[in-house]
Amino acid sequence: MRKACVIGWPIKHSRSPLIHGFWLKKYAITGSYEKRAVEPGDLESFLETLEIKGFSGCNVTIPHKEMVFNKVIVTDEVTRGIGAVNTVFVSEGKTYGLNTDGYGFLASLKESTTWQSENKTVSIIGAGGAARAIIATLIKDGIKAIYLFNRTMAKAQILAKEFGSVVKAKPLEKLEEFLDQTDLLINTTSLGMVGQPPLEISLQNLPSDSCVADIVYDPLETNLLKQAKANANRTVDGLGMLLHQAVPGFEKWFGIRPEVTKELRDLVVADLLKDKPE
Ligand code: ATR
Repeated sequence: MRKACVIGWPIKHSRSPLIHGFWLKKYAITGSYEKRAVEPGDLESFLETLEIKGFSGCNVTIPHKEMVFNKVIVTDEVTRGIGAVNTVFVSEGKTYGLNTDGYGFLASLKESTTWQSENKTVSIIGAGGAARAIIATLIKDGIKAIYLFNRTMAKAQILAKEFGSVVKAKPLEKLEEFLDQTDLLINTTSLGMVGQPPLEISLQNLPSDSCVADIVYDPLETNLLKQAKANANRTVDGLGMLLHQAVPGFEKWFGIRPEVTKELRDLVVADLLKDKPE
């Protein structure tokens, strides 16, 4: 019996058990995937005893991703560039870490569009952890240029310095001026999420053959995506990223590369709608 879990603090709202539980059942695997609330102070000892507790690995969520990066073996170049880990697996007594967030984003983008990164220019809103993951992954995939727009310019400048000349930091107020040269616009902030302020930009200057992606998945169709659809742009919602980022971990722990299907998507969508008032 293989076991995996997701650790975070708090962990109540994680949808990872729903996703991995679906796959365990679908592939008839005798295994389990559970939620574990781990306080920051207990993180190190939790990781050290992961195998003793019977776990093949775990997912890592807020606030532990950076701390776990410093405690595990990281061999993957993209994960090193991100500096945070969301997937941990044990192999021959050693504990390894991966970041699959950027992979999840790109897999979702390529599933919904004909996207190829070569010769493309991307505009990214936000300079937090999700932006880092997406930037590192797009660079590995051969992107030509990334404009990074952030409310706090200093944070965007730090990322631009780290990732090199492909990334150019810009103040958020300048975004609309750059849309006419944007092939893909990505919101990596929480703006537009339920309970958060909206993302207020006009897509008027965005060519209609450009794509718009949002990492927010609640609501599934954010105002940004609504506006993009009205503008005839291809859109990619945040749920695809959530589903695809789970694939490599499941494969490491349970030995089967699982498929992201409509049935799985529908299951998570139903869960998102569950507690909503009419
Ligand atoms: P994560 O690690 O999940 O990406 P984060 O590190 O908290 O989250 O990053 C959130 C991003 O959303 C940041 O780029 C933040 O901008 P600042 O660096 O200026 O804080 C952006 N963000 C959050 N609220 C915002 C708001 N009201 N207006 C503009 N940007 C906002």
